[in-house]
Amino acid sequence: MKISVIGAGYVGLTTAACLAEIGHAVCCADNDENKLNLLRSGQMPFFEPHLEEIVLRNCGVGRLQFATTETAVIGAEAIFICVGTPPLDNGDADLSAVANVARTIGQRATGNCLVIEKSTVPVQTGQQLKRQLQLYANKDLHCDLVSNPEFLREGSAIEDFFHPDRVVIGVERQEAASRMEEIYRPLLDLTFQCPVHPNCQTKKKLAWMVTDTNSAELIKHASNSFLATKISFINMVADLCEAVGADVTKVALGMGMDVRIGPAFLNPGIGFGGFCFPKDVQAFVRIAQKSGCDFSLLKEVENINKRRIEHFVEKVRQELWVLRDRKIAVFGLAFKPNTDDIRFAPAIELVRMLVSEGAVVSAYDPQASERAKAVFPDVHYCSNPYEAAEGAEAIMIATEWDEFRNLDWDRIKRIVVRPLVVDGRNMFQPAEMNKRGIQYIGTGRPSSFGGDSDSVAVSSQELRTVSN
Ligand code: UGA
Repeated sequence: MKISVIGAGYVGLTTAACLAEIGHAVCCADNDENKLNLLRSGQMPFFEPHLEEIVLRNCGVGRLQFATTETAVIGAEAIFICVGTPPLDNGDADLSAVANVARTIGQRATGNCLVIEKSTVPVQTGQQLKRQLQLYANKDLHCDLVSNPEFLREGSAIEDFFHPDRVVIGVERQEAASRMEEIYRPLLDLTFQCPVHPNCQTKKKLAWMVTDTNSAELIKHASNSFLATKISFINMVADLCEAVGADVTKVALGMGMDVRIGPAFLNPGIGFGGFCFPKDVQAFVRIAQKSGCDFSLLKEVENINKRRIEHFVEKVRQELWVLRDRKIAVFGLAFKPNTDDIRFAPAIELVRMLVSEGAVVSAYDPQASERAKAVFPDVHYCSNPYEAAEGAEAIMIATEWDEFRNLDWDRIKRIVVRPLVVDGRNMFQPAEMNKRGIQYIGTGRPSSFGGDSDSVAVSSQELRTVSN
Protein backbone atom coordinates (compact mmCIF):
# COMPACT_ATOMS: atom_id res chain seq x y z
CA MET A 1 0.00 0.00 0.00
CA LYS A 2 1.14 3.56 -0.60
CA ILE A 3 1.32 5.03 2.89
CA SER A 4 2.28 8.44 4.25
CA VAL A 5 3.30 9.00 7.83
CA ILE A 6 3.13 12.63 8.97
CA GLY A 7 5.64 13.44 11.70
CA ALA A 8 9.17 12.04 11.91
CA GLY A 9 9.38 11.97 15.72
CA TYR A 10 9.66 8.89 17.95
CA VAL A 11 6.27 7.53 16.92
CA GLY A 12 6.19 8.64 13.28
CA LEU A 13 9.68 7.61 12.26
CA THR A 14 9.39 4.24 13.99
CA THR A 15 5.98 3.61 12.43
CA ALA A 16 7.17 4.69 8.97
CA ALA A 17 10.30 2.52 9.09
CA CYS A 18 8.41 -0.55 10.35
CA LEU A 19 5.57 -0.17 7.82
CA ALA A 20 8.21 -0.05 5.09
CA GLU A 21 9.87 -3.13 6.59
CA ILE A 22 6.62 -5.11 6.24
CA GLY A 23 6.43 -4.22 2.57
CA HIS A 24 4.61 -0.92 2.13
CA ALA A 25 5.81 2.05 0.09
CA VAL A 26 6.14 4.70 2.77
CA CYS A 27 6.71 8.43 2.63
CA CYS A 28 7.54 9.94 6.01
CA ALA A 29 6.91 13.67 6.30
CA ASP A 30 8.00 16.41 8.61
CA ASN A 31 7.85 20.20 8.54
CA ASP A 32 11.40 20.48 9.85
CA GLU A 33 13.64 20.68 6.75
CA ASN A 34 16.76 20.06 8.85
CA LYS A 35 15.34 16.82 10.15
CA LEU A 36 14.38 15.71 6.64
CA ASN A 37 17.91 16.44 5.38
CA LEU A 38 19.44 14.61 8.33
CA LEU A 39 17.30 11.56 7.57
CA ARG A 40 18.04 11.74 3.85
CA SER A 41 21.74 11.67 4.70
CA GLY A 42 21.17 8.48 6.72
CA GLN A 43 21.42 10.02 10.20
CA MET A 44 18.85 9.53 12.95
CA PRO A 45 17.44 12.54 14.83
CA PHE A 46 17.31 10.50 18.10
CA PHE A 47 18.55 7.20 19.46
CA GLU A 48 16.24 4.18 19.36
CA PRO A 49 17.65 0.63 19.28
CA HIS A 50 17.51 -0.96 15.76
CA LEU A 51 15.82 2.07 14.18
CA GLU A 52 18.83 3.14 12.15
CA GLU A 53 19.33 -0.27 10.51
CA ILE A 54 15.65 -0.49 9.53
CA VAL A 55 15.56 3.07 8.16
CA LEU A 56 18.76 2.59 6.16
CA ARG A 57 17.70 -0.79 4.77
CA ASN A 58 14.32 0.49 3.60
CA CYS A 59 15.69 3.73 2.17
CA GLY A 60 18.24 1.58 0.34
CA VAL A 61 15.57 -0.50 -1.41
CA GLY A 62 13.40 2.56 -2.10
CA ARG A 63 10.51 1.62 0.20
CA LEU A 64 11.06 4.57 2.54
CA GLN A 65 11.38 8.22 1.51
CA PHE A 66 11.21 11.57 3.26
CA ALA A 67 9.24 14.62 2.11
CA THR A 68 7.28 17.63 3.29
CA THR A 69 3.68 17.08 4.41
CA GLU A 70 2.34 18.90 1.35
CA THR A 71 4.11 16.46 -0.96
CA ALA A 72 3.65 13.31 1.12
CA VAL A 73 -0.15 13.37 1.23
CA ILE A 74 -0.58 13.48 -2.55
CA GLY A 75 -1.72 10.09 -3.86
CA ALA A 76 -1.46 8.33 -0.46
CA GLU A 77 -3.92 5.48 0.17
CA ALA A 78 -3.43 5.75 3.92
CA ILE A 79 -2.12 8.67 5.97
CA PHE A 80 -0.95 8.14 9.56
CA ILE A 81 -1.01 11.32 11.65
CA CYS A 82 1.89 11.07 14.09
CA VAL A 83 2.56 14.71 14.95
CA GLY A 84 3.16 15.91 18.50
CA THR A 85 0.37 16.80 20.93
CA PRO A 86 2.41 18.61 23.62
CA PRO A 87 0.80 19.96 26.79
CA LEU A 88 -0.52 23.52 26.91
CA ASP A 89 -0.05 25.53 30.12
CA ASN A 90 -3.53 24.49 31.33
CA GLY A 91 -2.79 20.76 30.83
CA ASP A 92 -4.84 20.38 27.63
CA ALA A 93 -3.19 18.68 24.66
CA ASP A 94 -2.15 21.17 22.00
CA LEU A 95 -3.89 19.91 18.86
CA SER A 96 -2.75 22.65 16.50
CA ALA A 97 -0.31 20.37 14.65
CA VAL A 98 -3.06 17.75 14.16
CA ALA A 99 -5.43 20.45 12.87
CA ASN A 100 -2.81 21.74 10.41
CA VAL A 101 -2.23 18.26 9.04
CA ALA A 102 -6.00 17.76 8.63
CA ARG A 103 -6.16 20.95 6.57
CA THR A 104 -3.27 19.89 4.35
CA ILE A 105 -4.82 16.46 3.81
CA GLY A 106 -8.17 18.04 2.88
CA GLN A 107 -6.55 20.38 0.40
CA ARG A 108 -4.06 18.03 -1.25
CA ALA A 109 -4.96 14.36 -0.81
CA THR A 110 -7.00 12.63 -3.50
CA GLY A 111 -9.03 9.48 -4.07
CA ASN A 112 -10.10 7.00 -1.38
CA CYS A 113 -7.92 7.66 1.59
CA LEU A 114 -7.70 6.31 5.14
CA VAL A 115 -6.82 9.08 7.59
CA ILE A 116 -5.45 7.41 10.68
CA GLU A 117 -4.84 9.26 13.95
CA LYS A 118 -1.96 7.67 15.82
CA SER A 119 -0.94 10.67 17.91
CA THR A 120 -2.32 10.53 21.45
CA VAL A 121 -5.38 12.76 21.32
CA PRO A 122 -8.36 13.55 23.58
CA VAL A 123 -11.54 11.59 23.03
CA GLN A 124 -13.73 13.05 20.23
CA THR A 125 -10.71 14.45 18.37
CA GLY A 126 -11.64 12.08 15.53
CA GLN A 127 -14.97 13.82 15.16
CA GLN A 128 -13.30 17.23 15.02
CA LEU A 129 -10.77 15.89 12.55
CA LYS A 130 -13.55 14.64 10.33
CA ARG A 131 -15.22 18.05 10.37
CA GLN A 132 -11.96 19.73 9.41
CA LEU A 133 -11.41 17.26 6.59
CA GLN A 134 -14.92 17.84 5.26
CA LEU A 135 -14.45 21.58 5.50
CA TYR A 136 -11.23 21.62 3.52
CA ALA A 137 -11.67 18.52 1.33
CA ASN A 138 -11.27 18.98 -2.39
CA LYS A 139 -13.86 17.26 -4.57
CA ASP A 140 -11.54 14.34 -5.52
CA LEU A 141 -11.12 13.18 -1.93
CA HIS A 142 -13.06 10.57 0.01
CA CYS A 143 -11.70 10.06 3.55
CA ASP A 144 -12.33 7.31 6.08
CA LEU A 145 -11.30 8.26 9.57
CA VAL A 146 -9.55 5.69 11.80
CA SER A 147 -8.20 5.94 15.33
CA ASN A 148 -5.25 3.58 15.77
CA PRO A 149 -3.52 4.59 19.02
CA GLU A 150 0.14 3.69 19.40
CA PHE A 151 1.38 1.71 22.38
CA LEU A 152 5.09 1.78 21.51
CA ARG A 153 7.55 2.26 24.35
CA GLU A 154 10.68 4.28 23.72
CA GLY A 155 13.72 2.04 23.95
CA SER A 156 11.80 -0.99 22.66
CA ALA A 157 9.62 0.71 20.05
CA ILE A 158 10.75 -1.46 17.12
CA GLU A 159 10.16 -4.66 19.05
CA ASP A 160 6.77 -3.35 20.22
CA PHE A 161 5.76 -2.61 16.63
CA PHE A 162 6.49 -6.15 15.46
CA HIS A 163 5.21 -7.88 18.61
CA PRO A 164 2.29 -5.78 19.86
CA ASP A 165 0.00 -7.12 22.60
CA ARG A 166 -2.90 -5.57 20.79
CA VAL A 167 -3.77 -3.39 17.82
CA VAL A 168 -6.76 -1.14 18.48
CA ILE A 169 -8.70 0.12 15.48
CA GLY A 170 -11.46 2.68 15.94
CA VAL A 171 -13.62 3.07 12.82
CA GLU A 172 -16.91 4.41 11.59
CA ARG A 173 -17.28 1.86 8.78
CA GLN A 174 -16.31 -1.82 8.67
CA GLU A 175 -14.65 -1.28 5.31
CA ALA A 176 -12.04 0.94 6.96
CA ALA A 177 -11.26 -1.85 9.46
CA SER A 178 -10.70 -4.28 6.58
CA ARG A 179 -8.27 -1.87 4.95
CA MET A 180 -6.41 -1.48 8.25
CA GLU A 181 -6.17 -5.27 8.42
CA GLU A 182 -4.52 -5.17 4.99
CA ILE A 183 -1.89 -2.76 6.34
CA TYR A 184 -1.07 -4.88 9.38
CA ARG A 185 -1.56 -8.29 7.69
CA PRO A 186 2.08 -9.45 8.03
CA LEU A 187 1.90 -8.98 11.81
CA LEU A 188 -1.26 -11.08 11.99
CA ASP A 189 0.56 -13.99 10.37
CA LEU A 190 1.92 -16.35 13.05
CA THR A 191 4.85 -17.34 10.84
CA PHE A 192 5.99 -13.72 10.54
CA GLN A 193 9.71 -13.28 11.25
CA CYS A 194 10.56 -10.07 13.02
CA PRO A 195 13.74 -8.40 11.74
CA VAL A 196 14.88 -7.56 15.28
CA HIS A 197 14.79 -11.23 16.31
CA PRO A 198 15.30 -12.95 12.94
CA ASN A 199 14.94 -16.46 14.32
CA CYS A 200 11.77 -15.87 16.22
CA GLN A 201 8.34 -16.57 14.93
CA THR A 202 5.52 -14.54 16.37
CA LYS A 203 4.49 -16.87 19.16
CA LYS A 204 1.48 -15.18 20.61
CA LYS A 205 -1.62 -14.37 18.67
CA LEU A 206 -2.02 -10.66 18.30
CA ALA A 207 -5.19 -9.21 19.80
CA TRP A 208 -6.98 -7.33 17.03
CA MET A 209 -9.66 -5.04 18.40
CA VAL A 210 -12.11 -3.14 16.24
CA THR A 211 -14.25 -0.54 17.96
CA ASP A 212 -15.63 2.98 17.50
CA THR A 213 -13.26 5.96 17.30
CA ASN A 214 -14.25 7.49 20.67
CA SER A 215 -13.55 4.23 22.51
CA ALA A 216 -10.25 3.75 20.69
CA GLU A 217 -9.12 7.24 21.69
CA LEU A 218 -10.11 6.60 25.29
CA ILE A 219 -8.28 3.26 25.39
CA LYS A 220 -4.99 5.07 24.87
CA HIS A 221 -5.41 7.72 27.56
CA ALA A 222 -6.98 5.26 30.00
CA SER A 223 -4.12 2.77 29.50
CA ASN A 224 -1.35 5.30 30.10
CA SER A 225 -3.19 6.77 33.07
CA PHE A 226 -3.76 3.34 34.58
CA LEU A 227 -0.07 2.44 34.23
CA ALA A 228 0.91 5.76 35.81
CA THR A 229 -1.51 4.99 38.66
CA LYS A 230 0.21 1.64 39.20
CA ILE A 231 3.58 3.41 39.48
CA SER A 232 2.36 6.06 41.92
CA PHE A 233 0.65 3.34 43.95
CA ILE A 234 3.82 1.29 44.32
CA ASN A 235 5.81 4.45 45.06
CA MET A 236 3.52 5.15 48.02
CA VAL A 237 3.89 1.53 49.14
CA ALA A 238 7.68 2.08 48.93
CA ASP A 239 7.42 5.10 51.24
CA LEU A 240 5.38 3.03 53.67
CA CYS A 241 7.99 0.24 53.50
CA GLU A 242 10.71 2.75 54.38
CA ALA A 243 8.65 3.92 57.35
CA VAL A 244 7.98 0.45 58.76
CA GLY A 245 11.11 -1.46 57.72
CA ALA A 246 9.57 -3.67 55.01
CA ASP A 247 11.01 -4.35 51.56
CA VAL A 248 8.93 -3.05 48.64
CA THR A 249 10.56 -5.42 46.15
CA LYS A 250 9.16 -8.34 48.15
CA VAL A 251 5.78 -6.66 48.51
CA ALA A 252 5.65 -6.04 44.74
CA LEU A 253 6.70 -9.62 44.04
CA GLY A 254 3.90 -10.94 46.23
CA MET A 255 1.33 -8.57 44.77
CA GLY A 256 2.35 -9.34 41.20
CA MET A 257 1.73 -13.07 41.70
CA ASP A 258 -1.97 -12.28 41.68
CA VAL A 259 -2.83 -12.56 37.99
CA ARG A 260 -5.38 -9.79 38.40
CA ILE A 261 -2.57 -7.43 39.43
CA GLY A 262 0.40 -8.76 37.43
CA PRO A 263 4.08 -8.01 38.09
CA ALA A 264 4.66 -5.30 35.44
CA PHE A 265 4.89 -1.62 36.34
CA LEU A 266 5.40 -2.28 40.02
CA ASN A 267 8.98 -1.00 40.16
CA PRO A 268 9.13 1.87 42.61
CA GLY A 269 11.56 4.70 42.09
CA ILE A 270 11.88 8.38 41.45
CA GLY A 271 8.66 8.62 39.48
CA PHE A 272 7.43 8.28 35.94
CA GLY A 273 8.72 10.65 33.27
CA GLY A 274 9.04 10.93 29.52
CA PHE A 275 6.90 12.71 27.01
CA CYS A 276 3.86 10.46 27.47
CA PHE A 277 2.80 9.63 31.02
CA PRO A 278 3.09 13.09 32.62
CA LYS A 279 1.27 14.86 29.78
CA ASP A 280 -1.28 12.10 29.22
CA VAL A 281 -2.30 11.92 32.87
CA GLN A 282 -2.65 15.70 32.92
CA ALA A 283 -4.64 15.71 29.68
CA PHE A 284 -6.90 12.89 30.89
CA VAL A 285 -7.76 14.86 34.03
CA ARG A 286 -8.70 17.82 31.79
CA ILE A 287 -10.73 15.64 29.41
CA ALA A 288 -12.70 14.23 32.35
CA GLN A 289 -13.17 17.70 33.84
CA LYS A 290 -14.57 19.07 30.59
CA SER A 291 -17.06 16.19 30.52
CA GLY A 292 -18.16 16.91 34.08
CA CYS A 293 -16.17 14.10 35.77
CA ASP A 294 -13.78 14.88 38.60
CA PHE A 295 -10.99 12.32 38.13
CA SER A 296 -9.47 13.19 41.52
CA LEU A 297 -7.69 9.84 41.66
CA LEU A 298 -5.46 10.91 38.77
CA LYS A 299 -4.77 14.30 40.33
CA GLU A 300 -3.28 12.45 43.29
CA VAL A 301 -1.29 10.19 40.93
CA GLU A 302 0.31 13.37 39.59
CA ASN A 303 0.89 14.84 43.05
CA ILE A 304 2.58 11.67 44.29
CA ASN A 305 4.80 11.66 41.22
CA LYS A 306 5.80 15.31 41.70
CA ARG A 307 6.97 14.56 45.26
CA ARG A 308 9.35 11.74 44.26
CA ILE A 309 12.44 13.83 43.52
CA GLU A 310 12.20 15.85 46.74
CA HIS A 311 11.95 12.54 48.61
CA PHE A 312 15.03 11.23 46.76
CA VAL A 313 17.11 14.34 47.45
CA GLU A 314 16.07 14.31 51.10
CA LYS A 315 17.80 10.93 51.46
CA VAL A 316 21.08 12.54 50.43
CA ARG A 317 20.47 15.54 52.66
CA GLN A 318 19.97 13.14 55.57
CA GLU A 319 23.50 11.85 54.94
CA LEU A 320 25.43 14.93 53.74
CA TRP A 321 23.39 17.58 55.57
CA VAL A 322 24.12 20.72 53.51
CA LEU A 323 24.55 20.04 49.78
CA ARG A 324 26.30 23.30 48.83
CA ASP A 325 29.77 22.62 47.34
CA ARG A 326 29.44 18.85 47.85
CA LYS A 327 30.26 16.75 44.82
CA ILE A 328 27.43 14.42 43.80
CA ALA A 329 27.61 11.96 40.91
CA VAL A 330 24.37 11.39 39.01
CA PHE A 331 24.22 8.10 37.11
CA GLY A 332 21.65 8.31 34.30
CA LEU A 333 19.90 11.32 32.74
CA ALA A 334 17.44 9.76 30.26
CA PHE A 335 13.89 9.24 31.54
CA LYS A 336 14.49 5.50 31.26
CA PRO A 337 17.17 3.20 29.79
CA ASN A 338 17.79 2.64 26.06
CA THR A 339 16.78 6.10 24.99
CA ASP A 340 18.42 9.52 24.83
CA ASP A 341 15.11 11.21 25.64
CA ILE A 342 15.27 13.57 28.63
CA ARG A 343 11.83 15.15 28.23
CA PHE A 344 10.18 15.31 31.67
CA ALA A 345 12.93 12.97 32.92
CA PRO A 346 13.03 12.64 36.73
CA ALA A 347 16.85 12.75 36.43
CA ILE A 348 16.66 16.24 34.92
CA GLU A 349 14.47 17.43 37.79
CA LEU A 350 16.99 15.85 40.16
CA VAL A 351 19.92 17.73 38.59
CA ARG A 352 17.90 20.95 38.70
CA MET A 353 17.28 20.51 42.43
CA LEU A 354 20.89 19.58 43.23
CA VAL A 355 22.25 22.52 41.23
CA SER A 356 19.80 24.91 42.89
CA GLU A 357 21.09 23.78 46.30
CA GLY A 358 24.67 24.51 45.22
CA ALA A 359 25.87 20.92 44.84
CA VAL A 360 28.65 20.21 42.35
CA VAL A 361 27.11 17.72 39.94
CA SER A 362 29.04 15.33 37.72
CA ALA A 363 26.79 13.29 35.48
CA TYR A 364 27.09 10.26 33.27
CA ASP A 365 24.57 8.77 30.83
CA PRO A 366 25.42 6.40 27.97
CA GLN A 367 23.18 8.30 25.50
CA ALA A 368 21.55 11.41 26.91
CA SER A 369 24.44 13.72 27.92
CA GLU A 370 24.35 15.77 24.73
CA ARG A 371 20.68 16.58 25.18
CA ALA A 372 21.17 17.34 28.89
CA LYS A 373 24.00 19.77 28.05
CA ALA A 374 21.49 21.99 26.30
CA VAL A 375 19.49 22.26 29.56
CA PHE A 376 22.36 22.45 32.09
CA PRO A 377 25.52 23.60 30.29
CA ASP A 378 27.46 24.00 33.58
CA VAL A 379 27.12 20.45 34.84
CA HIS A 380 30.22 18.32 34.39
CA TYR A 381 29.34 15.58 31.88
CA CYS A 382 31.60 12.53 32.04
CA SER A 383 32.48 9.88 29.49
CA ASN A 384 32.13 7.00 31.94
CA PRO A 385 30.69 6.33 35.41
CA TYR A 386 34.12 6.18 37.06
CA GLU A 387 35.00 9.68 35.92
CA ALA A 388 31.68 10.88 37.36
CA ALA A 389 32.30 9.10 40.68
CA GLU A 390 35.83 10.54 41.14
CA GLY A 391 35.87 12.57 44.36
CA ALA A 392 32.07 12.28 44.88
CA GLU A 393 30.49 12.19 48.31
CA ALA A 394 27.41 10.42 46.99
CA ILE A 395 26.34 8.56 43.85
CA MET A 396 22.68 8.94 42.92
CA ILE A 397 21.28 6.39 40.44
CA ALA A 398 18.51 8.00 38.41
CA THR A 399 18.20 5.70 35.36
CA GLU A 400 18.60 1.92 35.42
CA TRP A 401 20.96 1.47 32.45
CA ASP A 402 22.24 -2.11 32.14
CA GLU A 403 25.76 -0.73 32.02
CA PHE A 404 25.50 0.13 35.72
CA ARG A 405 24.82 -3.48 36.72
CA ASN A 406 28.40 -4.60 36.21
CA LEU A 407 30.33 -1.70 37.70
CA ASP A 408 33.64 -2.35 39.46
CA TRP A 409 32.57 -1.25 42.94
CA ASP A 410 36.05 -1.82 44.41
CA ARG A 411 37.39 0.70 41.92
CA ILE A 412 34.58 3.10 42.75
CA LYS A 413 35.26 2.75 46.48
CA ARG A 414 38.87 3.79 45.87
CA ILE A 415 37.99 6.96 43.92
CA VAL A 416 35.01 8.38 45.83
CA VAL A 417 35.32 10.51 48.93
CA ARG A 418 32.52 8.56 50.58
CA PRO A 419 31.11 5.20 49.40
CA LEU A 420 27.46 6.22 49.50
CA VAL A 421 25.01 5.05 46.82
CA VAL A 422 21.45 6.36 46.80
CA ASP A 423 19.57 4.26 44.29
CA GLY A 424 16.35 5.64 42.83
CA ARG A 425 15.82 2.50 40.72
CA ASN A 426 16.60 -0.37 43.10
CA MET A 427 19.28 -1.83 40.84
CA PHE A 428 21.19 -3.66 43.58
CA GLN A 429 20.71 -5.90 46.58
CA PRO A 430 21.32 -3.87 49.76
CA ALA A 431 23.04 -6.77 51.54
CA GLU A 432 25.48 -7.31 48.65
CA MET A 433 26.37 -3.64 48.46
CA ASN A 434 26.86 -3.48 52.22
CA LYS A 435 29.15 -6.53 52.02
CA ARG A 436 31.24 -4.59 49.49
CA GLY A 437 31.63 -1.81 52.04
CA ILE A 438 29.20 0.53 50.32
CA GLN A 439 26.50 2.36 52.20
CA TYR A 440 23.47 1.66 50.05
CA ILE A 441 20.14 3.44 50.28
CA GLY A 442 17.55 2.01 47.93
CA THR A 443 13.90 2.87 47.42
CA GLY A 444 11.43 1.31 49.83
CA ARG A 445 13.96 -1.13 51.23
CA PRO A 446 15.78 -1.32 54.52
CA SER A 447 19.45 -0.30 54.00
CA SER A 448 20.56 -3.47 55.73
CA PHE A 449 18.36 -6.54 56.03
CA GLY A 450 20.53 -8.49 58.48
CA GLY A 451 22.33 -9.85 55.43
CA ASP A 452 19.52 -12.15 54.31
CA SER A 453 17.55 -9.93 51.94
CA ASP A 454 18.56 -12.11 49.00
CA SER A 455 17.56 -15.35 50.67
CA VAL A 456 14.07 -13.96 51.23
CA ALA A 457 13.83 -13.34 47.49
CA VAL A 458 14.92 -16.90 46.77
CA SER A 459 12.40 -18.42 49.14
CA SER A 460 9.49 -16.55 47.60
CA GLN A 461 10.60 -17.81 44.18
CA GLU A 462 10.77 -21.34 45.59
CA LEU A 463 7.33 -21.00 47.06
CA ARG A 464 6.04 -20.00 43.66
CA THR A 465 7.60 -23.06 42.04
CA VAL A 466 6.04 -25.30 44.70
CA SER A 467 2.59 -23.79 44.31
CA ASN A 468 2.83 -24.11 40.51
C1 UGA B 1 4.54 4.75 27.51
C2 UGA B 1 3.66 3.50 27.38
O1 UGA B 1 4.26 2.42 28.12
C3 UGA B 1 3.49 3.09 25.92
O2 UGA B 1 2.61 1.97 25.83
C4 UGA B 1 2.89 4.28 25.15
O3 UGA B 1 2.78 4.00 23.77
C5 UGA B 1 3.78 5.49 25.31
O4 UGA B 1 3.94 5.80 26.72
C6 UGA B 1 3.14 6.65 24.60
O5 UGA B 1 2.08 7.08 25.03
O6 UGA B 1 3.63 7.07 23.54
P1 UGA B 1 7.16 5.25 27.38
O7 UGA B 1 6.81 6.66 27.73
O8 UGA B 1 8.14 5.00 26.30
O9 UGA B 1 5.83 4.43 27.01
O10 UGA B 1 7.78 4.62 28.71
P2 UGA B 1 7.42 3.49 29.77
O11 UGA B 1 8.33 2.34 29.56
O12 UGA B 1 6.00 3.20 29.84
O13 UGA B 1 7.90 4.23 31.13
C7 UGA B 1 7.33 5.47 31.52
C8 UGA B 1 7.93 5.93 32.82
O14 UGA B 1 7.49 5.13 33.90
C9 UGA B 1 9.46 5.91 32.88
O15 UGA B 1 9.92 7.09 33.48
C10 UGA B 1 9.78 4.71 33.74
O16 UGA B 1 11.00 4.82 34.43
C11 UGA B 1 8.60 4.74 34.70
N1 UGA B 1 8.31 3.42 35.31
C12 UGA B 1 7.87 2.39 34.54
C13 UGA B 1 8.44 3.26 36.68
O17 UGA B 1 8.83 4.19 37.42
N2 UGA B 1 8.15 2.04 37.24
C14 UGA B 1 7.72 1.00 36.49
O18 UGA B 1 7.45 -0.09 37.07
C15 UGA B 1 7.58 1.17 35.11
